[in-house]
Amino acid sequence: MINQVVQDEVPVAGDVPRVRGRAIVVTSGKGGVGKTTTTANLGTALAALGASVVLVDADVGLRNLDIVLGLEARVRHHVLDVLEGVVTLDEALVTDKRVPKLRLLAAAQTREKDDVDTAAFRDLIGTLRDRFDYVLIDCPAGIEKGFVNAIAGADEAIVVCTPEVAAVRDADRVVGLLGDDRKVELIVNRLRPALVRKGKMLSVDDVNDILHLPLLGVIADAPDVIVSTNRGQPVALDPASEVGESYRAIARRITGQDSAAPEIPREKTFLGKLFGGRS
Ligand SMILES: Nc1ncnc2c1ncn2[C@@H]1O[C@H](COP(=O)(O)OP(=O)(O)OP(=O)(O)O)[C@@H](O)[C@H]1O
Ligand SMILES: [Mg+2]
Repeated sequence: MINQVVQDEVPVAGDVPRVRGRAIVVTSGKGGVGKTTTTANLGTALAALGASVVLVDADVGLRNLDIVLGLEARVRHHVLDVLEGVVTLDEALVTDKRVPKLRLLAAAQTREKDDVDTAAFRDLIGTLRDRFDYVLIDCPAGIEKGFVNAIAGADEAIVVCTPEVAAVRDADRVVGLLGDDRKVELIVNRLRPALVRKGKMLSVDDVNDILHLPLLGVIADAPDVIVSTNRGQPVALDPASEVGESYRAIARRITGQDSAAPEIPREKTFLGKLFGGRS
């Protein structure tokens, strides 16, 4: 049984109050826009900065956060096992050996989103907030029960949106459903600067003319994201990857270590392509 803790400061050994962690849901409305990729990379980057982080896969029935993190072989138990008292929370948490401050709580693959009780899931997120600096929740697509569960315990949200009209419209709907009590920020994912310049893709401003959200970051459409995903090695761990650096910059912005405005990926010049750097 998980007890919900409602106070904002939790007493720990020696009675030194510990500030509760932040629970951030990564959501979008539209499917396939990069929620799981974002959750995995921001979690990895935050943990690499020294924060304690737990990633919660709320996509019950269609889990894949474990695969993107390369941890699928180590998952023994899932969130429903914890909620149903089959195992303890500690038995279900998987540690990422590459980034020891990162934990994963996997989703059940063979169960339905409707099997999850919203209040119990909210309580679980509350329990995790008492133990971790950051609780990142990977939300399923859509606005049904899985979405309702995923946002229930989150006091903040990151809306991931690709520069496509359908994604923007769905994101707008989700922003309305998130309500006014949460901090909500935007990540524009899969931007292709050359297409924007040619007028064939929405720009970041076009997207945000509709959504009107504080911009947390912009991620380029980059083949290394797909390659790293297939390897189970988040690109945020690759010091040479520009898109990895974009995720690391967002993590610094989340922790407050970086207050500069997000950088918008630019088109590479011929020389930039030749030397692999941004120009
Ligand atoms: N910046 C990017 N550049 C290139 N490919 C990307 C990028 N972000 C995500 N992808 C790819 O897009 C696909 C969908 O990503 P992901 O699974 O993270 O989306 P999702 O929103 O979680 O999807 P779902 O709604 O099904 O849960 C994956 O193949 C992923 O590798
Ligand atoms: Mg996903």
